[in-house]
Order: sequence, then C-alpha cells, then structure tokens
Amino acid sequence: MPYHHITAMRDAAVAQLNCRPGKTYVDGTLGGCGHARIICEQIRPGGRFIGVDQDSDAIANARTVLAPYEDQIALELIHGNFSRLTDYLSQLKITTVDGILLDLGISLHHLQNSGRGFSFQREEPLDMRMNVGDEQTAADLVNGSSAADLEKIFREYGEERYAGRIARAVAAARRQAPIRTSRELAAIVSRAIPRRSAVSQAIHPATRVFMALRIAVNRELEVLQQFLATALDLLARQGRLCFLSFHSLEDRIVKQWINREAKGCTCPSDFPQCTCGRQPRLRILTRKPLRPDAGEVARNPMARSTRLRAAEKL
Ligand SMILES: C[S@@+](CC[C@H](N)C(=O)[O-])C[C@H]1O[C@@H](n2cnc3c(N)ncnc32)[C@H](O)[C@@H]1O
Repeated sequence: MPYHHITAMRDAAVAQLNCRPGKTYVDGTLGGCGHARIICEQIRPGGRFIGVDQDSDAIANARTVLAPYEDQIALELIHGNFSRLTDYLSQLKITTVDGILLDLGISLHHLQNSGRGFSFQREEPLDMRMNVGDEQTAADLVNGSSAADLEKIFREYGEERYAGRIARAVAAARRQAPIRTSRELAAIVSRAIPRRSAVSQAIHPATRVFMALRIAVNRELEVLQQFLATALDLLARQGRLCFLSFHSLEDRIVKQWINREAKGCTCPSDFPQCTCGRQPRLRILTRKPLRPDAGEVARNPMARSTRLRAAEKL
C-alpha cells in the first residue's frame, strides 16, 4: 500500500519520537506501515508497538508487513479509532507509552484502490468512510443534509468560496435523482462554479468539496480533539508526540493545543498574577512546523501541504 509521505518527512517524523529499544510506542494511523516499520526496527529488541487504524484494509496489510518483527518485539494491531486509545491501552493493561505518532488523514490506498469515492477522478460509489463499519456515508450526507448544512461543511472544512452556490446546485440535482457516485458529484460542482474561476484555479474545482465531505463523514476534527483531550494522560514523562497534518484546520488544532499545554497558565494576559495555577505540561520540539523541502514536493506533489509538529511531555 503506498502513501503520500515519502522518505524525508517520514524519517523526520520518526526521529521526533526518539525511539529506544525496549520502550513502548503507538502509531495511531498505521496506513501502509511506512512509519510503523521504521519504529519497529528502532525499538527491537524488546520494545512494544501498538498500531491502530480505523480501516480494516490497513490492519490486514499491517499483519503481513509487520510480521517479521513479531519475534523481536511485542506487537499489537488494533482496528479502531485513535480517539479511543485510552480504552485500547487499558485493555492491554498499559498505563503509559513513550511516544505516539499520528499521520492524519487518508492514505493513497483510499484515493487509488479503496473503491470508496474519495477521488473525483474515478467513478465510484460516494462512500468516503475510512471505517466501513461507520454508519454515515458521503452519499447519505450529500442526499440527506439540508442545503444550509452542506454549505457550512463546504465553507468550514473545504474553505470553499462558492460553498453556497455548490450547496444549492447539489440540492437542485438531488431533487431530480439521488447523487450516487463521485463523478456525478464532481460534475455538479464543476457546473456550479463560475466558468472563469474554474479555468483559473490551479486545482480541480471539486477538490475542496471532496476534502470537506471526507472530513465531515469521518468526523476528522472531532476525533483529533478527543484524542488531544486524553493524550497527555497516556504519555510517560519525556514521552513524545508527533503529528503530521495535511490540512490547515487540523494543523491549527494541533498547534493551538501544543501551545496551550506548553504555556500552562490560561489566565487573561491583563491579570496581574496567575490565578489558574496551571503548569506547562509540554515542551515544544518544533517551534515552526517542519515542511517538506522543494525536492520532496517535486517528487511527491501530494506532500506539499504536510506539516510536522512534535512535543515532549514534561
Ligand atoms: C496518511 S495515512 C497514514 C500513512 C502511514 N503513516 C504510512 O506510513 O503508511 C492515514 C491512515 O490513518 C487512518 N486514520 C485516519 N484517521 C484515523 C483515526 N481517527 N483513527 C484511526 N485511524 C485513522 C487512515 O485509515 C489511514 O490508513
């Protein structure tokens, strides 16, 4: 299974985890195991690796790819959402871990081979669930949400300036017949956007709408926030957190959370002295997010928006 991050960012992300033989690490977004494999290499002998993915295809792949490490480390592969990591670790009777990696979003497998309508370039059912056990598909959202809710999704998650026009076009099209496939939706979006804009945009007019729907279907921002609310309780002292994000909203959530936990005190800045008593709980390891260099972007254009942030528990 291929992925969107190639070697340099991948190595940089794992380096932030400071992996040591005998210690315990979590990859909450296994995907095709590009990061997982390097982590497993670095923690043998005697380490413990817990890999999580909400897509059962990724777990099946990981069982094969990581099998060679099974006699050197303790390996746990869990089909589930990283927002529930607390439960998974407590089931394994693990109280704290030494590092957690999240490489957020979808994998190239989702775009290219899953058959679930993540790409507007393919004719596939409009599904977009990373976990096919989840209830709501993209088709459910597109055909069942009000035009106002769709507009909000396109505007907030897609930062789409024609969100209103597109939502109205979707509502008009589905009155004729339900919208079932990725290409049908892409065509409706293309027609809804003023021709001048569609031609001048560097990306396909449906790019932002597809990204927005995917974020909504998988509740990507909510699960990230749920994870962050528990992350520090799961980490040992000097445990590391490393995030790779692809979307500016995700990156903003991670950045603001890291900054808040690194500052501690939440009193208004005009208070003469601290009354909240909150102490810093994190040390920031990346003042500015690490970005792929021009060479990496040239080799892999999909990596262009990747940002890496890392922090250490105090
Ligand atoms: C960008 S890919 C990860 C690629 C991986 N780091 C690699 O090296 O191959 C993201 C993966 O995380 C999974 N994923 C996304 N959000 C998740 C969540 N909330 N819980 C569990 N898995 C998630 C997706 O199913 C996908 O397989």
